[in-house]
Amino acid sequence: MYIPGFNKVIEPKLLTTQDGSKTLWIEEFNEPYHSIYGAIEESLHVFIHAGLGNVDHQKQNLQILEVGLGTGLNALLAWDYARQHHLSIHYLGVEPFPPATSILLQLDYPSYCQSNEAQKAYAKILSAFHQTEESRIDDLFWLKVIQDDYRKISYPAESYDCIFFDAFRPDIVPELWETHALQILYDALAYNGVLVTYSAKGQVRRNLHSCGFLIEKLPGPRGKREITLARK
Ligand SMILES: C[S@@+](CC[C@H](N)C(=O)[O-])C[C@H]1O[C@@H](n2cnc3c(N)ncnc32)[C@H](O)[C@@H]1O
Repeated sequence: MYIPGFNKVIEPKLLTTQDGSKTLWIEEFNEPYHSIYGAIEESLHVFIHAGLGNVDHQKQNLQILEVGLGTGLNALLAWDYARQHHLSIHYLGVEPFPPATSILLQLDYPSYCQSNEAQKAYAKILSAFHQTEESRIDDLFWLKVIQDDYRKISYPAESYDCIFFDAFRPDIVPELWETHALQILYDALAYNGVLVTYSAKGQVRRNLHSCGFLIEKLPGPRGKREITLARK
């Protein structure tokens, strides 16, 4: 990835986390893409169980927005969830710096899915990284990827049932967690929708609250006391 002001292209490296699953790691910032206590554990706990688990259960057709698509792990686990719960999902993943396919294939993420055909689904997810149109992953899941800063995109108003907010930590990129940026996500979220993030930082919660969100503190995955669920 090229970070303006950093003056060189940064290539993420592979890192094995404590649950045995792998993640990517940016050496220059000492920043992993997932918790070092467990990449799969964190994604399942925060985004699938706390996020999708808190979406209105009556809805069978969901619109999901992910800020920071990264490796595509949350998209793959959402695909798996859709198959287990017979939901149809249209998923928009925003990622300005998609990692190289060659390193993503070494993460072995399909082996953590319940559903058969996860290998095929992840291959289609990775090829959607480089398409401009929405890609059909299977009969229940569609993925569109936008390679841009999430703050520059114009989203349809009140459309998403769930937002996975998975940017790098606020200490590293505070501008992505400011109120005026989060307000864009509040406006894109449907009424009764939820935004979920791994961050439990007081300033992040205050910024979300300033946008109009109702804040819930939920227990975190291993190594993290709390995470944040924000409802509209
Ligand atoms: C914590 S990692 C995401 C992990 C990812 N959800 C996954 O499961 O692999 C943060 C991601 O945010 C992306 N990112 C950086 N700046 C961004 C921006 N302005 N808008 C959206 N995403 C951004 C990074 O490139 C990185 O992939």
